[in-house]
Amino acid sequence: MQLPDESVEYLYQGMLAGGVEEWTPTTELRARHCLSPARLKAIVPQLVQIRSQVAAERELQQVPPELQPLDAGFIDLPQKTLDDHRRKGDDSTLGRVLGLANHLREQVDRVVILGIGGSYLGGRALFESLCHSYHNELPAKVRLKTPRIYFEGNNVDNDALQDLLELLDNTCVDPELREERWGVIVISKSGGTLETAVAYRVLRSEASKFYGPRAEELWHLFVPITGAKGKLRDLSTALGFNDDYMLTIPDNIGGRYSVLTPVGLLPAAVMGLDVRALLLGAMAMTRRFLEEPFEHNPVLQYAAVNYLMSEECGKPIRVLAVWSKKLEALGLWYDQLLAESLGKQGRGPTPLTVVQTRDLHSRGQQHQEGARDRVINNLIVKTPRTPPILLGMADYNEDELNALNRKGLPDLQSAALRGTNQAYADAARPTADLVLPTLSEHTIGQLMQMLMLATVVEGRLMGINPYGQPGVEAYKRNMKALLK
Ligand code: PA5
Repeated sequence: MQLPDESVEYLYQGMLAGGVEEWTPTTELRARHCLSPARLKAIVPQLVQIRSQVAAERELQQVPPELQPLDAGFIDLPQKTLDDHRRKGDDSTLGRVLGLANHLREQVDRVVILGIGGSYLGGRALFESLCHSYHNELPAKVRLKTPRIYFEGNNVDNDALQDLLELLDNTCVDPELREERWGVIVISKSGGTLETAVAYRVLRSEASKFYGPRAEELWHLFVPITGAKGKLRDLSTALGFNDDYMLTIPDNIGGRYSVLTPVGLLPAAVMGLDVRALLLGAMAMTRRFLEEPFEHNPVLQYAAVNYLMSEECGKPIRVLAVWSKKLEALGLWYDQLLAESLGKQGRGPTPLTVVQTRDLHSRGQQHQEGARDRVINNLIVKTPRTPPILLGMADYNEDELNALNRKGLPDLQSAALRGTNQAYADAARPTADLVLPTLSEHTIGQLMQMLMLATVVEGRLMGINPYGQPGVEAYKRNMKALLK
């Protein structure tokens, strides 16, 4: 069960204009560029009504045309997955995910994960945020049977794929040795995505050279994750794949909402992550969303504040400033979630991920003094997972760091964050903090579910369907026509 001090919180005071303080140039600016608390209060009844609508959409058996497409299955999925596992054990989806992950972990030392968009970014976000930053470089002993992880099938970059093939060719010589064997997880809900399909074909051909054209590894070390129908399903059937080595993406869950289906769960389990904690975190967030009042409901708070800033306060650019290098891929996952869900009908906020303090040295100037067209949501990790690195004393003090000898990197990070927020506040640059108590499966599960739910609520506030991505089809059609 979720402990109170593990909860993700959204602190949005820095987005609000002040009350009735004395006039100063800053309060004047804040009144012009920040959100009026009265306006925020006024939207709460509408939010509560939208929450009921989103809750009711989960139960719809027949989806009316004006709501189509409707992919609300992700909302209850964490709870359903855990319940199903309790009831059916190894035969449940989670049981099968864990079984396949153990199999891959035992059999191979390298796993290539193929997929693009929603079939890629969630897995990468989990890998970067929760695994060791140098995971692939660590000796096998330290990785405790966790294979090295590579992502491909998310582009058609000849050199990038050649580099991977060259790596496999140079490091995997003897297919009898676990340390030199590799496997593939191929993820495509539609099964028709060219980038992924091409990489899959190339890797199968490479594997048939390595393991032999009829070797059982071509079936047992390749795991397709796909929809109930489609080209990847058909190909797998034609190749003679046994159902035990395939996983299905539920129909009612779209790509960018699918991280807690096998799409993200199998990669996470192969990476050695605690997938139950991930699901428990997400489940706790769904419960908070459905049950808590606005004051304790980060989903409603985030959706309302950001919606009003972009739609009513002229701030269409939404910066996610992640205060941990490990969260950059999480930011890219959110970029896709927001852009593909709400970038429709000539509207929608523009997401932008920056990594702090790195990007204070690139985009910081613009955020501080550039166009007033953006809000900044800091994503903060309160407590690092590892012991603090202290500066200490040095014989040569030309860098003048001895004065800080008792400080550690977390102190510097915290000072940089507070200093930056103060500078934004003084210049009336709207800023909020999304706070993770620490980086763990449980907090990342909460965060991802929170951002998915908030995106749906925001879509409903805007009158835009947050599901489906009709605009992505245009390039695919043209590309296929040109190739013919
Ligand atoms: O969010 C989405 O639905 C998309 O980004 C898809 O995930 C992406 O286009 C990949 O599609 P597929 O899984 O069908 O290969």
